[in-house]
Amino acid sequence: MIYDFLIQKGSSPALAELLVELGRAIEEISKSILGASTLKAGSKNAYGEEQIAMDVKADEIMNRTLSTNPYVVTYCSEEQDGLQPASIDGQFSVFHDPLDGSSLFDVNFSVGTIVGIYPVADVLGHTPREQVAALYAVYGPRTTVMLSVGKGVQEFLLTEEGWVLVTEEVAVTAGKKYFAPGNLRATAEREDYFNLVASFIKEKYTLRYSGGMVPDINHIFKKGSGIFMYPGMPSAPDGKLRLMYECGPMAFLMEQAGGASSNGKSSILDLQISSLTQKTPVYLGVKEEVEKVCAAVL
Ligand code: F6P
Repeated sequence: MIYDFLIQKGSSPALAELLVELGRAIEEISKSILGASTLKAGSKNAYGEEQIAMDVKADEIMNRTLSTNPYVVTYCSEEQDGLQPASIDGQFSVFHDPLDGSSLFDVNFSVGTIVGIYPVADVLGHTPREQVAALYAVYGPRTTVMLSVGKGVQEFLLTEEGWVLVTEEVAVTAGKKYFAPGNLRATAEREDYFNLVASFIKEKYTLRYSGGMVPDINHIFKKGSGIFMYPGMPSAPDGKLRLMYECGPMAFLMEQAGGASSNGKSSILDLQISSLTQKTPVYLGVKEEVEKVCAAVL
């Protein structure tokens, strides 16, 4: 059923089959989360961040799916160092963050999986605009997926009978004013960011920030309104969030839903990929809000 829907949305059979497989991997991660331990794994990811056991498990599930898929030529996880080869005849390279927000796992906040799919084996020199599909899964009280194959954004719900389409046209236009000010610590180093945050407070925006990029961005998609910010600061000019595993896929989805993405100067989708570990400041949400932010931050 989902396969037919994806074909209808203009997806190639190869891409639709890959997405159906990713749907199975997400279902497996979702089931593994129920009752999972919150213990540390005793290992670190490619960025030197401590892993929990569920990071390792989710990574294994995703990598098993991707390494055995005939359409995947290369893949890379945010947890690992470097591109992994898959099928020599494959046509897609896949980038994923298997368990984004895992530092919030012990407190039982929502976490997620983020995926970006490119139609080339080597993405260096390309841009995130070239993604043929992007998605994220939210593991909250329910498991849902936001997906785009370049024809708008659709939301799916995991049920006992499998994946069900729940929203065919997810739109980020405008409405109630929400803000999600990531990296608030940057206000200590940047007066422009301090003033921007103060202006949102003065204008009575509602704060919606959990500290997990997936639920924080999902709030914008579901309410159709809001702005998510994660700027850099002098001590970390590119901020923390990664282009390939977080910002690129989220920007693809946001622009497909009618919203905007920016690093403060240009669309995230137009940034040239120079390394797989590239980080970028990021602003995502309603177009006018992103423009306001870009005018206010230096
Ligand atoms: O990259 C992981 C992540 O947890 C994101 O999901 C989230 O937006 C960000 O880090 C929060 O960062 P900080 O811990 O600096 O608030």
